[in-house]
Amino acid sequence: MYAEIIGWGKCAPPAILTNNDIATFMDTSDEWIVSRTGIKQRHISHVPCSELARVATERAISCSGIDAKDIDLIIFGSNTPNEMVPNCASKIVNAVGATNATGFDLNSACTSFLYALNVGTDMIKAGSIKTAVVIGMEKTSRLMDWGKRDSAILFGDGGGAVVLQATEKELGLIDAKLNLVPNTREMLSLPGFGMDMADEDYKTYYSSLNFDGQEIFKHAVRGMQEACNDLLSRTGVTQDEIELFVPHQANRRIIETLAKRMKFDLDKVVICVDKYANTSAGTIPLALCDALEEGRITAGMTMLTASFGAGLTCGAGLIKWGERTKPLEDSEAELPPCNQTALEIIQPSIDSAKKHYESK
Ligand code: UT7
Repeated sequence: MYAEIIGWGKCAPPAILTNNDIATFMDTSDEWIVSRTGIKQRHISHVPCSELARVATERAISCSGIDAKDIDLIIFGSNTPNEMVPNCASKIVNAVGATNATGFDLNSACTSFLYALNVGTDMIKAGSIKTAVVIGMEKTSRLMDWGKRDSAILFGDGGGAVVLQATEKELGLIDAKLNLVPNTREMLSLPGFGMDMADEDYKTYYSSLNFDGQEIFKHAVRGMQEACNDLLSRTGVTQDEIELFVPHQANRRIIETLAKRMKFDLDKVVICVDKYANTSAGTIPLALCDALEEGRITAGMTMLTASFGAGLTCGAGLIKWGERTKPLEDSEAELPPCNQTALEIIQPSIDSAKKHYESK
């Protein structure tokens, strides 16, 4: 048994924050950000992450042509759930009318979509469920420390969802290799979130991303390359049989370095970090949806995906696409209207960063 990807949907909120917008309140420039990262803009959400996930899920369901009642499981891959308890998946199960489904959240940081895709696929392969929705979605803008220019410029909001369905044909995520780099937890962390936060005085609490960009860069390239090579040798698929590479979108330079090491021509690589920045768990489903819209995914294509994130977690996945590359039905799912600019949406977080650094 396999788990074909039969539906896909993305959601990028409408407000856009350009590099020049950031340069109005931070010592940075469009030139620096584009040359070091390839990022030109990012989307900023005016709604909670669950709302972005609802829209992407409804779009993926319409695309697949299934009834929401046929879904057995929804996995919400994310670092930015609305709340810890209850999980965010249950909110999405209810919102999309998946009355026969259960759901759980999965957080392995930026790799959450790939990890969730692996879990959902393996549950279908094992026969315990037949149909699953796997979501990768983030509202990272609320987590950013807008006083830290090395990390705040890198991230954005948005993501997507896919519908998996049991099939006897060899399709979907054929195999995956997931890794954790030992003793690298401190390189990328948000101390204090979760139960540790309960020990803090809530009103004076300020979340500040710990971030060692250069070390992450090196481990990201090495970790993804090792996972890709392990996966290729395990499956017997050769590098030149890969028709499309869909990597995590953190930094254009990371993608280019990895592509060079894997000997992939850039025309085989999906790059959309310029439009969305790093949407963490959202990058791979966004890239998949964009590649489908642009006609870059064709019937029967063999694809490789790779990801890395806090932990540090890494992984690679081998995907065989099915026959269909167009949605069966168009979706009417939309976000509520947004009447603020991206800068207006993040202004309270910018103010709180200012207050925090002035008091230091
Ligand atoms: O999904 C996982 C998320 N993690 C990542 O994506 C991190 C991966 N790492 C990276 O993408 C890169 O390391 C960065 C983009 C974060 C940084 O690029 P870099 O080429 O490694 O720059 P750097 O850290 O060596 O900084 C070079 C200079 C420094 O100034 P000095 O010390 O040379 O005077 C920084 O202070 O650039 C300065 N700088 C900035 N300047 C303008 C750092 N951030 C900025 C900024 N604008 N936003």
